[in-house]
Amino acid sequence: MRAIGLFSDGRLDWVEVPKPQPAGRDLLVHVKAVAVNPVDVKQLAPNAGAGPRILGYDVSGVVEAIGPEVTLFQPGDAVYYAGSIDRPGGFSEYHLVDERIVGPKPRTLSFAESAALPLTTITAWEGLFERMRVPLQNAQGSVLIIGAAGGVGSMAIQLARLAGLTVIATASRPDSTEWVRQRGAHLVANHFEPLEPQLKSLGFERVAYIFCLTPVAPYWDAMMSLLAPEGQVCLLLPPGDVALAPLWALSGSLHAESMFVRPRFHTPTMIHQHHLLARVSALVDQGVLHTTLAEQFAPISPETLTMVFQRIRQGHVRGKLAVSGFDS
Ligand SMILES: NC(=O)c1ccc[n+]([C@@H]2O[C@H](COP(=O)([O-])OP(=O)(O)OC[C@H]3O[C@@H](n4cnc5c(N)ncnc54)[C@H](OP(=O)(O)O)[C@@H]3O)[C@@H](O)[C@H]2O)c1
Repeated sequence: MRAIGLFSDGRLDWVEVPKPQPAGRDLLVHVKAVAVNPVDVKQLAPNAGAGPRILGYDVSGVVEAIGPEVTLFQPGDAVYYAGSIDRPGGFSEYHLVDERIVGPKPRTLSFAESAALPLTTITAWEGLFERMRVPLQNAQGSVLIIGAAGGVGSMAIQLARLAGLTVIATASRPDSTEWVRQRGAHLVANHFEPLEPQLKSLGFERVAYIFCLTPVAPYWDAMMSLLAPEGQVCLLLPPGDVALAPLWALSGSLHAESMFVRPRFHTPTMIHQHHLLARVSALVDQGVLHTTLAEQFAPISPETLTMVFQRIRQGHVRGKLAVSGFDS
């Protein structure tokens, strides 16, 4: 079958690999659409002499075959999932994935609209509801989401608002500001201007939750000035050498969210990702949550993916970019 590999010279190109066979709890998925994430773009090229590496950690497609221990899906089911960083990714015509991290594709969305969702939805859901323990309903207080116009933020805004929080999102440009408002942000601040005076002028001295979707160091002092006593902070990137004393002075809690940890270590909580994707799928079909797809491209090819990788490297993507079909 055809796949797209990252080669040692940094190029994305076609590679022919054997069609895999499902074992254990694996599904063999016929890939219909993929989305690209910063994690794809950040992967280092394999060493010279090593074979190409297949990336791609957002997939929607149709189950073609199942392993003998599969209980949640059957051939013909339409699915969406992010996969696992320690296995080949989904830039291939067929792809193996453990059923415990797969959800039923939203019926009301196209394959591209569905592929836009899984990785960032898992991240936003785990960060808000499982790490910071925001109640799913009737949550009290406010959340500051730093870097909110991208893939994770576009879903985090929707989920935080659904939970009942007041959402203060940051965006730096007119179109990303408009985008976060359309996703449901109550208030918007500019992350390239000092955040404390902006939040004060919006009427907020401190917030109960801070979800930092960007490098941490540039925002750490502002986060510590803006966090409420007993507040919660969740980081998506390693914090580096930040001072923890201000957090201690507030009895604050610091959480790490790394969405590949569950599939990579096969934790007992791995199946939470199946449950949360199923729940999100139902909420999308009820019209409560919406796809974060901003632009879609075709076909899935080295040329299209190279262009999308470049767009993501520039750092100003709103929502998600997805690519459909190997032949269209
Ligand atoms: N730990 C995990 O499990 C996990 C999961 C998913 C993502 N991540 C990481 O989290 C980060 C966000 O992911 P994503 O998918 O949302 O990325 P993304 O879609 O590429 O985010 C793009 C957005 O980031 C904003 N931005 C760019 N530079 C910024 C800065 N210096 N300060 C604040 N905002 C800035 C931009 O807003 P403006 O154009 O308005 O400036 C843009 O809309 C990435 O580094 C990614 O690798 C980690």
